[in-house]
Amino acid sequence: MTHEQESDLVSLNEWLKGRHALTGLAPDWDIGALPDEPSALFASWLREAADAGVAEPHTVTLATVDADGLPDARTLILKRIDDRGWAFASTRSSRKGAQLAAVPAAALNFWWQPQVRAVRVRGRVEEATPDESAADLAARSASARADIAAGDWTLWRLIPTRIEFWQGSRDRRHTRVVYDAADDGWSRTVIGGPADRLTEDRGA
Ligand SMILES: Cc1cc2nc3c(=O)[nH]c(=O)nc-3n(C[C@H](O)[C@H](O)[C@H](O)COP(=O)(O)O)c2cc1C
Repeated sequence: MTHEQESDLVSLNEWLKGRHALTGLAPDWDIGALPDEPSALFASWLREAADAGVAEPHTVTLATVDADGLPDARTLILKRIDDRGWAFASTRSSRKGAQLAAVPAAALNFWWQPQVRAVRVRGRVEEATPDESAADLAARSASARADIAAGDWTLWRLIPTRIEFWQGSRDRRHTRVVYDAADDGWSRTVIGGPADRLTEDRGA
């Protein structure tokens, strides 16, 4: 590394030291009225983020691991959510495609500012049917379809086992609501928050 590159890093590190995070203002969140289904809470948070002007709140970091257990992450578009899972699409020939073929599990992470909200999702991943993948490809613009070989475009679904909703607070009493998949629905845990609550209750 040259002297100039080293001094660039020193100023970068000085700059990083002076940064603040969680500078937004979180909306009111009535955790006494949580829905039984995490997808319902996600839908309202996503809508609130969009209404608040968050740019592209449907973009998300997708983390995967390769056959050696080495993690990887990249930004993707969330396609849809339904009873079958949280769908995203890409080419099977991509790095993520190879990683999902080796280890069919993943995590998603959304971060929305200035709402100081994040959502984490993890679970195993299943490939949709070839027809569903073809339909997703057909819905893309002609330019987005260019150069994609037949059968390469793939729709996957992450089937969540754990979804965490995190909301930051100026007094650093951040609130986390965790939904864990149970045999008969979802169990729900609330951690932290203004009154330092710790409660556990059962979803439907
Ligand atoms: C905002 C944004 C949205 C993206 N959406 C997608 C997507 O839906 N599908 C996709 O394959 N790549 C998407 N990309 C590109 C990926 O981040 C990534 O570069 C690419 O898929 C290759 O990843 P891989 O090498 O880990 O397979 C997007 C990138 C950005 C910045």
